[in-house]
Amino acid sequence: MNIIKKITNGIIPKHIAIIMDGNGRWALERGENRFYGHKQGVKTVFKIVEAAMKIDVKYLTLFAFSRENWGRPKHEIKKILQLLSSTIKENEKHFLRNKIKLKTIGNINDLPTLSQKLINQVVNKTKNNNKITIYLALSYSSKNEIIEAVKKIIKEKKYLDTEIDEELISQNLQTYKCPDPELLIRTSGEKRISNFLLWQIAYSELYFSKKKWPDFDAEELYMAIFEYQKRERRFGKTTEQIEKK
Ligand code: FPP
Repeated sequence: MNIIKKITNGIIPKHIAIIMDGNGRWALERGENRFYGHKQGVKTVFKIVEAAMKIDVKYLTLFAFSRENWGRPKHEIKKILQLLSSTIKENEKHFLRNKIKLKTIGNINDLPTLSQKLINQVVNKTKNNNKITIYLALSYSSKNEIIEAVKKIIKEKKYLDTEIDEELISQNLQTYKCPDPELLIRTSGEKRISNFLLWQIAYSELYFSKKKWPDFDAEELYMAIFEYQKRERRFGKTTEQIEKK
């Protein structure tokens, strides 16, 4: 694939975050039910993980289930969570074989006990893998993650107000061991962040793909990276300052 050659000449982002959107609409357009879209969405997850590993992306954070998603019809929630946890458990060997580390962010305790158990087993078994780390955001709300970080800091009772800085907040987020994403992708043409990694994406490049998640593929991932590489990341500085470095 020509595009791989192109992007591997440039800087590959270490961490890519993805809002996987459009499963439901993709299925309805085909006269199928929403769950059919989620099942196709799972297939895309595996293709994208493989494509990311191929170019040595080190972290992928996937928005699998938001805290707001609890507002969906009960039967859809149940089926999504079953699909997620059974897929993860069934692919334990795949994760081990490919040195994929699985971690979760969000309030995993909100999930049904069996889902928690299956997911935690795989998180534990894959903890020493080092090819790529997949953070699955489950019952995740970024505002809530920040609130919890602030609560933790206050509870410790050992910081002066002058010691409260970006580093301290970052260290108390669930992503504390992971560099911030350089690139955030959202599929399905929607241009919103939807309470995802608000702190961590302060300087990320944003890429909005028109493709719905089941249609998203390696080629489109590499296009997003190509687009990212063409952009100039100034972190609030001027072009001249960046060029001097
Ligand atoms: C977005 O589509 C997808 C979700 C809300 C969650 C389900 C995600 C998966 C099943 C893929 C993740 C799988 C693994 C193994 C990590 P949507 O229902 O919001 O689509 P819509 O906007 O068209 O309604």
